[in-house]
This record gives sequence, structure tokens and C-alpha cells, in this order.
Amino acid sequence: MTQKGLEEVVAAETRLSDVDGVNGRLWYVGYDVHDLATSSTFEEVVYLLHTLRLPTEAELDELSDRLVAEREVSPFLAGMMPTLAQQTSPMSMLRTGVSAASAYDPDGWEDTPEANERKAMRLIAKTPTLIALYHRMRTDQEAVPPNPKLPHAANFLYMLSGEEPDQEDAVALDTTLILYADHTMNASTFTARVIASTLADMFSAITGAIAALKGPLHGGANEESMKMLEEVGDPSNAERYVKDKLARRERIMGFGHRVYKTEDPRATHLRRLSQELGERKGDPRWFEISAEIERVVASEKGLHPNVDFYAASVYRHLGIPTDLMTPVFALARMPGWTAHVREQYADNRLIRPESEYVGPRDQVYVPIAQRG
Ligand code: CMC
Repeated sequence: MTQKGLEEVVAAETRLSDVDGVNGRLWYVGYDVHDLATSSTFEEVVYLLHTLRLPTEAELDELSDRLVAEREVSPFLAGMMPTLAQQTSPMSMLRTGVSAASAYDPDGWEDTPEANERKAMRLIAKTPTLIALYHRMRTDQEAVPPNPKLPHAANFLYMLSGEEPDQEDAVALDTTLILYADHTMNASTFTARVIASTLADMFSAITGAIAALKGPLHGGANEESMKMLEEVGDPSNAERYVKDKLARRERIMGFGHRVYKTEDPRATHLRRLSQELGERKGDPRWFEISAEIERVVASEKGLHPNVDFYAASVYRHLGIPTDLMTPVFALARMPGWTAHVREQYADNRLIRPESEYVGPRDQVYVPIAQRG
């Protein structure tokens, strides 16, 4: 029997993350995401996902230094960027940029576990630079070179705006990156693992993952959520807006989930961040609209917000343009994707499911000249 959308099909064993959709729990390598979101850093989560344990201080310093050292993109990529900035959407740029990055990776086509670990770190380190460079070029601003003194999240905001973010903004972004870092067999991670299972290279797998993330049912939902907040414009419009949309049988972006039947634990933190940022920046409107949409969707449809809904208003407060919100999801998911690809290589079997044929059978072939 066809399991449409592969719902509940277990496609791989993983040591990286686990979800309890009934109780709204999420763990990375057995650590509760609530603890990681409040106490860890993105760099530490990178270490955790790639090494399956938390680092010592010295190990974390070493990893952070490695990521800092790999932030610059090759002249080849920088040379492509003016054209990409003019011609392509941000996610298409990222898909093309990551694919093109394979051309100048120092490990070339070497596919040893060590080379793949290095490729993973380079992809994690360079993705923020690609996004920021693209944004600077499309807005006719000077490129801002990475600042080696700043951690991953703060450096991204710095390269994007040219100004060092304050500590609270940097921590808020860092928390969202932790929350987005991995999530079991979501569509983009599955895509990456399918590609890796053919023994295609790391860059091919991640290029495919970015392509899968782009769609509005997956990573594209944070951008669609932001557009919805703008369309609603004021909390008093939320009820009418949601009811009209549901009457037209349209989806409310940022709501619902294949696995969570209750609150997405990531949404709990993003809601808090959205409220805090709104208050701190003196602009509580986005949070208020969001909270009202959440209330109406719950009463009309019984659906909970997923990770993408409150991420939208958080990113708005952090100065991230709407069409860069999905690329930011990609830069956050990079450690998860690359760790899954390495895990797939380490114990590989070609992923090749079945299909159920539902077309006509036993048709008689008629030569073209005799077809009426
Ligand atoms: N708005 C309105 N109705 C919805 C929504 C929604 N956002 N999500 C699910 N439903 C309804 C759907 O219409 C269906 O109702 P009915 O049985 O009356 O036709 C029922 O809930 C089941 O929907 P489904 O499409 O079978 O559920 P799914 O598990 O295939 O879909 C989903 C999961 C995330 C694609 C879906 O909830 C959705 O389209 N959400 C909006 C897009 C979104 O926010 N995506 C981000 C997902 S989480 C993070 C990420 O991956 O980026």
C-alpha cells in the first residue's frame, strides 16, 4: 500500500536527532533542545552534531578557529556573485553557490571520512558569507569581509549590515540557529541522504538539500509567514484574514507539522524571542499580529505554529530581509545536513523505495501512422 508522503516510514537510523511529536520534544544527540537553546552556542551544536558529544573548552576553541579560518569564499565564487546578485533569487544563488563551491574545494573529489568532515566545516563556515555577499552586491554596497573576532551568528549580522550587532541581537540569532540546526528526516535532510546514498559527493547532496528547503511547505514557510504578517498589518485584521484564507481552503504558513501533534518545542523559544525583541526594539506589532493569528488558527483549525512562524518576526527584528529568511534557515541547517550525509556514508545502503503503479496495463502498441 502506498504511504503517501512517506508518513511514518522510517527511512534511516540516526544518532543525530530525535523527535517526540506527541509530547513536543526534540533532542540533538540525546540533549534536550530546550537546554541547548538556552545554554549552548551554534558552534557547540556544530561540534555536537559532528562528533556526537559536547566539546571541552579547548575543543570548542579549536573548532571555532577552524570555522573562522574557512569563512572567506574563493575568488571564483566572489567573481560569480555580481551575476547571481543580479539574476537569481537568494535560494537559487545559494543552491548554485554551494554547487559551484565544489570547484575550488581544497579536498577536490576526495571522499574519505576526513575529507568529508573538512568539506562539512567549510560549507558551514562559508554559507553565511555567500548570503551576505549576495545581499551587499544586490543592494550596491561594499562587501564586508568576515570579522574573525566575532562568532558565527554575530559575524553573519555584521557581514550583512556592516555594523557589529549588539550582544542581545547576536544571542537571539544564535539561538535561532541552534533551533534550526537539525530535525530528523525532514524533506531536505532526506533529500541529502538519498543523494549521499548513491555515493554522490557532499556538495551534490547539500545542493539537493538546499533545493528541497526552498519550497513553501518546508523552509520557504518562514518567508511566507513574514509576508502574511505584513498582509495582516494589524492584530485587529488577523481574525478576518485567517477565516477568509481557511474558507478559500488555503494553508496558513508557519502552522501545522507532519510530526508534531502539539506545540513544536522550537516555536516556544521563537515566540519568546519574538516578544522580547519586539519589546526591546519598541515595536511589538509583529509579535501582537503573530499572537493573534496563532489564537485564531488554534480556535479555527486546532493547528500549532511550527518553527517557521515566529522565526519570521524574530528575523525581521534582527534586520534580515524577508527573502533571506530561508537562506538563514539553510545556514543554520548546514551542520545537520552535513552530519546526516556523513552518517549516511558511514553505513550506506542505496535508498531506493518502491512505487505503486496505478496506470493502464497491457496496452497494445499501434504504429504512429495508424493512430487516429
Ligand atoms: N493551514 C491550514 N490547514 C492545514 C495546515 C495549514 N498550515 N497544515 C495542515 N493543514 C490541514 C490540511 O489542510 C489537512 O486538512 P484536511 O484533512 O481537512 O484536508 C490536514 O491539516 C492535514 O494536512 P496534510 O497536508 O496532510 O499534513 P502534512 O503532514 O502532509 O503537512 C505541512 C505538513 C507542514 C506540509 C503542513 O502542515 C503545511 O502545509 N503547513 C504550512 C507550511 C509550513 O508551515 N511548512 C513548514 C513546516 S515545519 C518546518 C519546515 O520544514 O520548514
